[in-house]
Amino acid sequence: MENKKFKRTTVTSALPYANGPVHIGHLAGVYVPADIYVRYLRLKGEEVLFIGGSDEHGVPVTIRAKKEGCTPQDVVDRYHGIIKNAFADFGISFDVYSRTTSKTHHQLASDFFKTLYENGKFIEMESEQYYDEGAKQFLSDRNIKGQCPRCHAEDAYGDQCEKCGSTLSPDELINPVNVLTGNPLVKKPTKHWYLPLNDHQPWLEEWILQGHKEWRSNVYGQCKSWLDAGLKPRAVTRDLEWGIPVPVEGAEGKVLYVWFDAPIGYISNTKELCDAHPEKGSWETWWKDPETRLVHFIGKDNIVFHCIVFPAMLKAEGSYILPDNVPGNEFLNLEGDKISTSRNWAVWLHEYLVDFPGKQDVLRYVLTANAPETKDNDFTWKDFQARNNNELVAVYGNFVNRALQLTQKYYDGVVPAPGELTEYDKETLAEFKDVKEKVERLLDNFKFRDAQKEAMNLARIGNKYIADCEPWKVIKTDPERVKTIIYISLQLTANLAIAFEPFLPFSSEKLRGMLNMPTFEWASLGNTDILPAGHRLAAPSLLFEKIEDSVIEAQVQKLLDTKKANEDADYKANPIKPTIAFEDFEKLDIRVGTVLECERVPKMKKLLKFKIADGLQDRTIVSGIAEHYQPEELVGKQVLFIANLAPRQFKNGLVSEGMILSAENFDGSLAVTSLLKEVKPGSEVK
Ligand code: MF3
Ligand code: ZN
Repeated sequence: MENKKFKRTTVTSALPYANGPVHIGHLAGVYVPADIYVRYLRLKGEEVLFIGGSDEHGVPVTIRAKKEGCTPQDVVDRYHGIIKNAFADFGISFDVYSRTTSKTHHQLASDFFKTLYENGKFIEMESEQYYDEGAKQFLSDRNIKGQCPRCHAEDAYGDQCEKCGSTLSPDELINPVNVLTGNPLVKKPTKHWYLPLNDHQPWLEEWILQGHKEWRSNVYGQCKSWLDAGLKPRAVTRDLEWGIPVPVEGAEGKVLYVWFDAPIGYISNTKELCDAHPEKGSWETWWKDPETRLVHFIGKDNIVFHCIVFPAMLKAEGSYILPDNVPGNEFLNLEGDKISTSRNWAVWLHEYLVDFPGKQDVLRYVLTANAPETKDNDFTWKDFQARNNNELVAVYGNFVNRALQLTQKYYDGVVPAPGELTEYDKETLAEFKDVKEKVERLLDNFKFRDAQKEAMNLARIGNKYIADCEPWKVIKTDPERVKTIIYISLQLTANLAIAFEPFLPFSSEKLRGMLNMPTFEWASLGNTDILPAGHRLAAPSLLFEKIEDSVIEAQVQKLLDTKKANEDADYKANPIKPTIAFEDFEKLDIRVGTVLECERVPKMKKLLKFKIADGLQDRTIVSGIAEHYQPEELVGKQVLFIANLAPRQFKNGLVSEGMILSAENFDGSLAVTSLLKEVKPGSEVK
């Protein structure tokens, strides 16, 4: 470990809400990096616990339950199972994956609250909240909707308008109503308990801004802006039925705020694990011993809770350690758009494994290669294919396969004894001598992308080495020399199995199998004598396989279908204009015209110039549809146009004698109107 003052590490990963399955954004932002980190520590022989679990309280669970006509418990039971399995399938190696509806958690969170309450760590305040008198309940922000004060869309939520994206508070909504009942709302006073974060401000400033300058700049920066703005008391209770009852007299109908109980879940889950497995030590060692290092893996929307609120809770309690680091990631987008559970804009883990069985490591690799460590990043299927085919298959897989196949072919699967090394051999070996130190420095600093790149770099070195040495040619002229080449290639292969172990555990396991080595020590990384001469290998097989275009096209099509479905669901026509008299309509002279000629207008990107036969003469009409049609496709077609519109002159002197009618689609694209049957040009439209 970098810092010698610690003896062990408690690693937590944000508890995902159990109100939907998990997708690649979760994996990339939290679980893969956390898993890489703990696998690395374990390989080094360090004491570490990896804590996970489902976050099962909160309003979204209750909304989902209402929608599906089941209980909140039904919802979380279902998704807890799905999520837990998905993580297991991807090799996320939790020591424990429990849930916040567990008995242990309810007890521990309740006790935690009581301790703070009894020690005067909260303030009690009454405030006016929206209340539905019909349903006899206070409403959470998400359960309130009304007109957006910014864009005036109906159906904006009490926390956000999904149309214009503004963050809102329920007080800003125009005509707020209960989402579920549609009832109008009144304000009513209610009492809640608050954590006075303002009292914690001084030590938090010192601890983070002075003491943790090494935190990632996105994390540090967000903390700084919260602190600079000045912290305010935060309510830690809610008027809600679903959750952990507030363990105080006079708090009937109130529960702990989900963000109060969920992080305590890390502690409860540790306790559950340690109570069941005494060999893991006491849970308190993992949470209270100053020689334990606490690290939280999270996404950027969780930063304030893990760097400010939860530490304030722990400090207020008094007996806990604080996090030493909080590697928070930015977001992963999907094909350029924000991942969204409600819009089904995601690659779901359980679906991925149906389409790509056995390819967990491919996704792990691609997500780490594109990890949103310093900025938002994008997942695209094209990139997924390219990284698989050009890196995993063509570099790593290809090298390993060559080394193993040649060993089979020339030496019957037994590691040959090397002869004297050439200068080139020595240079190659020197290149991977310091890889251990490099990878360690990067992993210790949570730079998973770069660390994985270093590992892949080893494979590049190997690939180049074997291509340069051409053992398949040399075997005919200097068979002794080939022994050395293969020996070195096999040592490189063993190094790859070690270096990739935290990142691509399934592939490393497979490769260890082929090398006939059940385990490797991390300490061996960089060594050039890992596989002794005379050691017998097992039969080789391919580590990775090429992904064909058709497979990728099917995934892209699936997303296009989703996009189409979302557009259809979102679509609403513009309101109808005020009524007009029939005489007004009759003033319009709409005719059918046949397009005789059509061409682009120089220097006017949007315009097409038409020559139209209108049954009396030919006329020129200019229309702004050049971005939607090629001139050729319109020649010979019949279109509808307004024949009695006053002529309009364009800047370049061009005059348009009428207007061709087009429909404007929801996305702004234009479709020229036409007829179902051919008629004489000049026919009137009535
Ligand atoms: N459920 C939260 C989310 O998905 C994360 C909770 S993390 C915990 O954003 F610390 F509260 F557990
Ligand atoms: Zn809006």
